[in-house]
Amino acid sequence: MSQATHLRIPGPTPLPDAVREAGGRQMVNHRGPEFKALLGRVSSALQRAFRTENEVLILTCSGTGGLEAAVVNHLSPGDAVLSVSIGAFGDRFAKIAARYGADLTRLDITWGQAAQATAVADALAGMAAQGRPARAVLLTHNETSTGVTNPLPELAAAARAAAPDAILLVDGISGLGAVPFETDGWDLDVVVTGSQKSWMAPPGLAMVSVSPRAWEAAKAATMPRVYFDLTLHRDSAVKGETPWTPAVGVAFALDVALGLLEAEGYAHIFARHAACGAATRAGLQAMGIRLFADPAHASDTVTSAVVPDGVEWSTMNQELRGRGLVLAGGQGALTGKIFRVGHLGAVTTDDILAALTILEEGCGALGIEMTAGRAVAAARDAIASHSATPADRQDASRLAVASPA
Ligand SMILES: Cc1ncc(COP(=O)(O)O)c(C=O)c1O
Repeated sequence: MSQATHLRIPGPTPLPDAVREAGGRQMVNHRGPEFKALLGRVSSALQRAFRTENEVLILTCSGTGGLEAAVVNHLSPGDAVLSVSIGAFGDRFAKIAARYGADLTRLDITWGQAAQATAVADALAGMAAQGRPARAVLLTHNETSTGVTNPLPELAAAARAAAPDAILLVDGISGLGAVPFETDGWDLDVVVTGSQKSWMAPPGLAMVSVSPRAWEAAKAATMPRVYFDLTLHRDSAVKGETPWTPAVGVAFALDVALGLLEAEGYAHIFARHAACGAATRAGLQAMGIRLFADPAHASDTVTSAVVPDGVEWSTMNQELRGRGLVLAGGQGALTGKIFRVGHLGAVTTDDILAALTILEEGCGALGIEMTAGRAVAAARDAIASHSATPADRQDASRLAVASPA
């Protein structure tokens, strides 16, 4: 790989050259024919990626804006809502709903663990027994703060069975597009993602799919909304526009990125991410670094690991940055305790091997006992057990990214 800086955070991610160049194109009229064609292309490609027949709307905001849109369009103040939170982003989703006046019941799972379907079913049954059946359930697919992927199909099925009238609002921000996801197959009502994650595009767009059940709920929903009024977005989308001026440059980039993703094929993309995730976990463990997430639910887009004993995260981070490796720290209560390696978007197994090499050297320089080459050897073994490897190597040049410097 050609990067001087190895940006291995869970978004924004390094961009393939073709995507970066597309983002720098000259502007067009956002109410003209070129943008109309682009919007049509992008939303169709997203429907295929989300695996849905539902409309996918494109909002100019970060992922959090998409979560806010999911809440305010489908709920009214006082509505009973179950929040299933397994980390900082689940907490954020809950906070949005509470701030807009939802009557929130919280199912908070220990950070590092996934939620269990039985716990979701029990929480919903408890709400119904109290005479406050849930109108909505807030679910996180991939919790970026802890590196845990929830068993979303099981959680969604349990929620649907226990609360048939509830709408399922899903934060799919950091998993969708990189690991298997079935919006319609899992009967999810609103699904949100963000351009800077698996999509190999810059930050600036949230993409939101909305089911017929959710549109029906929107008719009665009274939470206040203006910028995020999805009915306005849907009406504009019919004309090939957005209600407000969109992030045109990000849309250019996303259009090209979606083309690259489809050319690669989602089956291969999922296998590539699985190989990168397995390689990262194996490499870290071979270094004697403890993984944080429950191994049964470890994410293939971001790996969380415990900061080694006797080292401050700030010192370790500085050492690694000096060597060109940029990782993410912990969030909230995990600040200083864990660090996170992002492996989503235009990432190859070679990128992971390069990151592990720097990590091993950097930790060694900090006095942590390391055997040179051990992490890479373990990672290579893990990669060898993934079928993506041969084609992954062929793809490496197409996914090549230039240094941000
Ligand atoms: C799972 C998840 N939810 C929500 C967000 C918030 O998205 P944004 O930072 O784009 O607002 C993120 C961003 O990292 C995320 O990973």
